[in-house]
Amino acid sequence: MKYSSKREILLSVKGLTVEFRIPRGILRAVDNVYLDVYKGEVLGLAGESGCGKSVLAHAILNIVDPNGYIKDGKIIFRDNGKEIDILSLPKGRLRRFRWEKISIVFQGAQNSFNPVIKIKDHFIDTVVDHRRRIPTEKVFEEAEKLLKQVRLDANQVLGMYQHEMSGGMKQRALMALSFILKPKLIILDEPTSALDVLTQKYIVSLLKEIHEKTGVTMIFITHDLPVLAEIADRIAIMYLGNIVEIANVRKIFYEPKHPYTQALLKSIPSIVGPIEDLQPLPGPRPDPVHPPPGCKFHPRCPHRMEICTREAPKLVNIGDEHYVACHLYQ
Ligand SMILES: Nc1ncnc2c1ncn2[C@@H]1O[C@H](COP(=O)(O)OP(=O)(O)OP(=O)(O)O)[C@@H](O)[C@H]1O
Ligand code: SF4
Ligand SMILES: [Mg+2]
Repeated sequence: MKYSSKREILLSVKGLTVEFRIPRGILRAVDNVYLDVYKGEVLGLAGESGCGKSVLAHAILNIVDPNGYIKDGKIIFRDNGKEIDILSLPKGRLRRFRWEKISIVFQGAQNSFNPVIKIKDHFIDTVVDHRRRIPTEKVFEEAEKLLKQVRLDANQVLGMYQHEMSGGMKQRALMALSFILKPKLIILDEPTSALDVLTQKYIVSLLKEIHEKTGVTMIFITHDLPVLAEIADRIAIMYLGNIVEIANVRKIFYEPKHPYTQALLKSIPSIVGPIEDLQPLPGPRPDPVHPPPGCKFHPRCPHRMEICTREAPKLVNIGDEHYVACHLYQ
C-alpha cells in the first residue's frame, strides 16, 4: 500500500487487557495493548504460539471464551466520520457489525463450515441474517463473483459440503464468504497454517490480489514471519500478551530493534540464510500465569539490565513510526 502523508486510522485498540480464569489462577493473555490499524493497510501480527494473537483478534469483536473477560480497554472503529466503541455495542448491533464492518476468519476455520449445510446455504444464511429482504439470486450473483476472485468454480463449490473440498478450497471458500457483506476490515487468523507450502503461497497471492483490487484493510495473523514479508505493510510483534515492536516490514526484517524480534528472526531458516546461522529462541517460554516481572522477556534476553527485572518498558516511537518496548531505547 502506498501511504499518503496523513494516514487514516480505521481501528484503535486502546489499553486492551484480556484475562482467563484457570484452575492455577489468572492468565493474562493480552496485556495493556495499544494498536492502531490504518485504513487500507495489511497489518501483520506475529509472535510465538500462545503469545495472545488469537485472543487479541477475537477481543476486537468482543469475542472471549466463557472463562475469560475483557478486564480493561477500548476498541474504537471509525466509520464514515463516526467513532464506534465496539465493546459497548449492544448484542444485536454487535451481531450486525460483525461481517458488515469487520469479518474474521477464525484459526482452524477450515472446519468451521457446518458439515451438514451446503456452501451455498452458508452464503445465504450469512446475508439473510443481515439483510432480510435480499433475493437469493442476488446472493448467488455476489457469491459467484467472490468465488471467482479466489479461483473457485461457483457452479461446483456452491453445491458442495465441506468434506467434499480440500483444505485449500475450504480456506478460499471461507475467504470469499468473509467478503460477502463487503466489510471494511478483515481479520485472518493463521489463514495459511495446516496447508501445504504451495497452497500457502497460492492463498497469500490471492489475498494480495484481493487487497490490491479492493483496498480492504487486513489484519493477517501468523506465527510464520516469512509469510508476512510477502503481504504485510507493517508488522506488530507480540510476546506474552504485549506488543513489543511495530514497524513497517522492511524495518522489522532488516533493522529489528527489540531483542525478541531479533531472536525470532534468527530462529527462522528462510530469513537468515545459511542453516548454520540458525539459532533457536533462548530459554523456555515463561509460565503465562506467573510472568517475569519488569520486561517479560528479561530471563531470555542477552541484553538485560538491572532495570529490566523490575520495570516494564513502554512502547515508544523511536522515529519514523517504529515503536519498540525495550529499555535499550527509552
Ligand atoms: N479459554 C482459555 N482459557 C485459558 N487460557 C486461554 C484460553 N484461550 C487462550 N488461552 C491462553 O491465552 C494465551 C494466548 O492464546 P492465543 O490463542 O491467543 O495464542 P496465539 O498467539 O494465537 O497462539 P497460536 O500461534 O498457537 O495460535 C495462551 O497462553 C493460551 O493458553
Ligand atoms: S527491556 Fe531489557 S530485558 Fe527486555 S528486551 Fe529490552 S534489554 Fe531485554
Ligand atoms: Mg492463535
